[in-house]
Amino acid sequence: MSKPAINSAGAIPMSASKSRALSGRLRAPGDKSISHRSLLIGALTVGRTEIEGLLEGEDVIATAKAVRAMGASVSREAEGRWRVNGLGVGSLLAPREVLDFGNAGTGSRLAMGVVAGHPFEAVFDGDASLRKRPMRRILDPLMQMGAETVEQAEGGRLPLRLRGAREVIPITYETPVASAQIKSAVLLCGLSADGETTVIEKEATRDHTERMLAHFGAKVSVTPHGEHGRKITLRGRPELVPQKIVVPSDISSAAFPLVAALIVPGSDIVLENVLLNPLRAGLIETLREMGANIEEVNRRDDAGEAIADLRVRASALKGVDVPAARAPSMIDEYIVLAVASSFANGETRMRGLSELRVKESDRLAATAAGLKANGVDCMVEGDDLIVRGKSQAKGGGIVETHMDHRLAMAFLVMGLASEKPVTVDDGAFIATSFPGFVENMKRLNAEISA
Ligand code: S3P
Repeated sequence: MSKPAINSAGAIPMSASKSRALSGRLRAPGDKSISHRSLLIGALTVGRTEIEGLLEGEDVIATAKAVRAMGASVSREAEGRWRVNGLGVGSLLAPREVLDFGNAGTGSRLAMGVVAGHPFEAVFDGDASLRKRPMRRILDPLMQMGAETVEQAEGGRLPLRLRGAREVIPITYETPVASAQIKSAVLLCGLSADGETTVIEKEATRDHTERMLAHFGAKVSVTPHGEHGRKITLRGRPELVPQKIVVPSDISSAAFPLVAALIVPGSDIVLENVLLNPLRAGLIETLREMGANIEEVNRRDDAGEAIADLRVRASALKGVDVPAARAPSMIDEYIVLAVASSFANGETRMRGLSELRVKESDRLAATAAGLKANGVDCMVEGDDLIVRGKSQAKGGGIVETHMDHRLAMAFLVMGLASEKPVTVDDGAFIATSFPGFVENMKRLNAEISA
């Protein structure tokens, strides 16, 4: 494998061009959400947790380092096979070094929940993208639980020093925005409370934290709340029992080859072992409404999560209206859905995307800019993204990726079916969530060069 060219700014520009039919099988790397959680929750059990299929992307490696810095032992046994020897709830140790989470929003925010439940201080930092992202939404409930931010950058951003609570106060917290990260931080801190911690969410978000905590032996109850919401209650100070975790493939990563196969004529591929948790599967539902041919093969259950292989064939797509209520179940998939919409006939309106503005980049603005640079008719109206597809995108543009892995992958997918090649200014951040993306796509016949 030849090394990609790094330009003087340290970026790795990449281009994708019209490809012949994609074919073959691909196993996307382990789910990022589950990978972060298995390390953090493993550290809060006494004894050895074994993880298979851990995502070895930069984001998750940063979490592994943070967990190690707090006294748990973390070792890599073989590719994807990791062990965590935890210290137990409330028993982690003060880290001596800065917890540098790089690009990882999830790792940093969930770890804040863990630190808030311990009577010590930790300094959190990250790269230029993470330093821009809002942290108050996490710190607010953690303060109510007794934690304190000793120092912070303007607007409650990183770098910041968090002092955990001596005595965690169990609270009931209604999340102001649909966010699994806020919910998870509160629950992870609530593990140390003497009493019950409750999170109420108006829109149900990915439930990996509550599922995994229950899997490790915590008492967690989940009840419906309103039309789309949930109420999650956790009894504090459980004795978590070490477990074996098998991490399925990340639907948020499988989404890229999936859309590629739909838009490159004649394609027929199989994506193996994909996590189909209903709170993550909004993209598949939407693409099917657009006319996508996605077949679930061998649907099964593994450690309480629904999994299937997906056979995906090139399909004629049509524009649809995507309701705002679906956003939490596909929040990371809108960029690649916008790319799919560019190849659909008619208008696709994606509603209620305000949260996209605070991801690894302002994805609403950056997606619209990337589409326009490639001749796609689109606009942002309030919090909605509207794409007027023409079954064939022109391409030929250079896309600014703003340190955002998913912008890079989505626009490389666009190039595989556009008239002219699509270039992304920097593919380096792909390694945060999908190491081996380019090689894996090339094996399916994708024309990508770095
Ligand atoms: C994640 C939650 C989502 C998502 C992120 C992963 C998680 O963020 O965008 O990539 O693992 O909990 P929000 O909770 O901010 O919506």
